[in-house]
Amino acid sequence: MKNYIVTGCAGFIGSTLVDRLLSEGASVTGIDVFRDYYDTEIKRHNLASALENPLFTLAEKDLSQDLSFLNSFTGNSDELVIYHLAAQAGVRKSWGSDFRVYTRDNIDATQNLLEWAHSRGGIKNFVYASSSSIYGIPSTLPMTEEKTVPVPHSPYGVTKLAAENLVRLYTANRGLPSASLRFFTVYGPRQRPDMAFNRFIQAAFREKPIGVFGNGKQTRDFTFVDDIVQGLRLAENSTTGLAMNLGGGNRVTLLQAIETLGKVMGREIKIDFSESKLGDVPDTWASAELALQELGWKPSVSLEEGLRQEVIWLNPSFPQ
Ligand SMILES: NC(=O)c1ccc[n+]([C@@H]2O[C@H](COP(=O)([O-])OP(=O)(O)OC[C@H]3O[C@@H](n4cnc5c(N)ncnc54)[C@H](O)[C@@H]3O)[C@@H](O)[C@H]2O)c1
Repeated sequence: MKNYIVTGCAGFIGSTLVDRLLSEGASVTGIDVFRDYYDTEIKRHNLASALENPLFTLAEKDLSQDLSFLNSFTGNSDELVIYHLAAQAGVRKSWGSDFRVYTRDNIDATQNLLEWAHSRGGIKNFVYASSSSIYGIPSTLPMTEEKTVPVPHSPYGVTKLAAENLVRLYTANRGLPSASLRFFTVYGPRQRPDMAFNRFIQAAFREKPIGVFGNGKQTRDFTFVDDIVQGLRLAENSTTGLAMNLGGGNRVTLLQAIETLGKVMGREIKIDFSESKLGDVPDTWASAELALQELGWKPSVSLEEGLRQEVIWLNPSFPQ
């Protein structure tokens, strides 16, 4: 039987990946230290169905600390795939003294896990969750892996790029099979409560204006969580250390996204504009050509359909 490790397993994307792997009949060890960046009850809830599955084991451990506990979880299987999604996410909090949290959870933890993977050996693949934040504000769009020079515009982006580089060099120097996937603004059921659509939907249900940073003309390439999980699954067999964009298909301005949300929710949405935040970028736009070529990956869920699913998740009594 194939064995998987999913780090950040209690988070938004990690828990969705865990459920997908378990539905395929795989055996999964999930690692998460349940950081309280947002309510840890939400994370426990994300894992509720996985915890009922005998094929799932949860290790509540900090990846930046000693990892010898992992040896007993993973046995001798040569089929071990590591999905490394644990991180301190979020651009806006990455300034000031909080940066130490980002270096610990994004860089130190990744290096620690790479060392463990290298010394264990027999790893089929190490798949890293990178981010569009590594690109910063390029002079031309869309963002392509070969042509766009990564120049992050936030401390968060710096740590994600550093970790991506660590993964790449463990492949180049140590022969560790790997792939890095650069996610573009992920949304859908279980989205983190600090992320825009989650905040917008909750405010709209309470008939409160939604808070938009900046003038709303910034563009984002929104990617539905199941499309991201599909990309992660396809990347299991891509072992050459390539970094690939996972995004595309739903690039709109924030104002257009809010209009679509209003249509889905069947209500007028009022907006409260405020200053854009330090580290925010004006645009993200993925070229998804490389992921198509290498993985056969293509995003398939429209913004309208994806938003409908997130709305229903946040309010199950919403008419389907
Ligand atoms: N959500 C997005 O739009 C998006 C976009 C680009 C990249 N990403 C990346 O995808 C991954 C998952 O993001 P998410 O939105 O699901 O975030 P999330 O915060 O919901 O999940 C991350 C999980 O990692 C855990 N974690 C953090 N540090 C840890 C450590 N030292 N040891 C063990 N566990 C630790 C946290 O407790 C959390 O549950 C992250 O690597 C993030 O940088 C996300």
